[in-house]
Amino acid sequence: MSQASPIGVFDSGFGGLTVLKEIVSRLPQYDYLYLGDNARAPYGNRSYDTVYHYTLEAVQWFFDQGCSLVILACNTASAKALRTIQQNDLPRIAPDKRVLGVIRPTAEIIGRFSETGSVGVLATNGTVASGSYPMEIEKFFPELKVYQEACPMWVPLAENNEHESHGADYFIKKNLQHIFEKGEDIDVILLGCTHYPLLREKIEEHLPVGVKLLAQGEIVAESLADYLQRHPEIEKQCSRNGRQVFYTTDDTADFDSHGALFYGQPINSIHTELGHI
Ligand code: DGL
Repeated sequence: MSQASPIGVFDSGFGGLTVLKEIVSRLPQYDYLYLGDNARAPYGNRSYDTVYHYTLEAVQWFFDQGCSLVILACNTASAKALRTIQQNDLPRIAPDKRVLGVIRPTAEIIGRFSETGSVGVLATNGTVASGSYPMEIEKFFPELKVYQEACPMWVPLAENNEHESHGADYFIKKNLQHIFEKGEDIDVILLGCTHYPLLREKIEEHLPVGVKLLAQGEIVAESLADYLQRHPEIEKQCSRNGRQVFYTTDDTADFDSHGALFYGQPINSIHTELGHI
């Protein structure tokens, strides 16, 4: 049996840090290895093939570091690559290892928050086009109406430190207006992209009264805690020293200063390379 190792947490860039933050707060005893593919972010507008290949390279990187469990803390990667990796690649490259995403845990509970039976999902172009949210939510809440809106400018706003600017207000208002035109009785809005919590305050300012805003960090953390309890064979492979180590495929100084905004704490990252970069 392999040695105990950190839990891998992956995102195209900074967004997964909003998820890792909640995971560490819920499960501080484990070790975590975070990888942001900042050199190739954003993934949101990229093709299936590209997101799949980038994500598979990242998963292989985590396996090379010894990780037995990897969380894709990126909706775009979860939507476009997770299923193929789980079904086609894992049995071939690492049958004893596991890769989990962020869409299913969210879909499993979203319906509990709605009284009107209508929810809105804000996400990247890629996640919206994949139809993953409506498909997954239907399995758990077949009656729930799901409206989607792609917000392609929100990740660049968050990545470029423009999340508090007037420009951000413009795009947030515009996308919220669109989704409420599609579904007037929406009473739950899901931030279906792990970058969006950085825009949370501004989104709340523009939300109609009484609409609940859901971010995924706590949902994913709770679902991971549950998963580890139900899978002792994986849990015992996770090392427990309470450490977090951060890697980026781009510049470390930039990752440290900007990543701290997403993570809420100082970060000291290490550079690494993936695939053909
Ligand atoms: N944070 C990623 C997500 O949850 C997407 C960001 C990107 O476009 O790379 O979808």
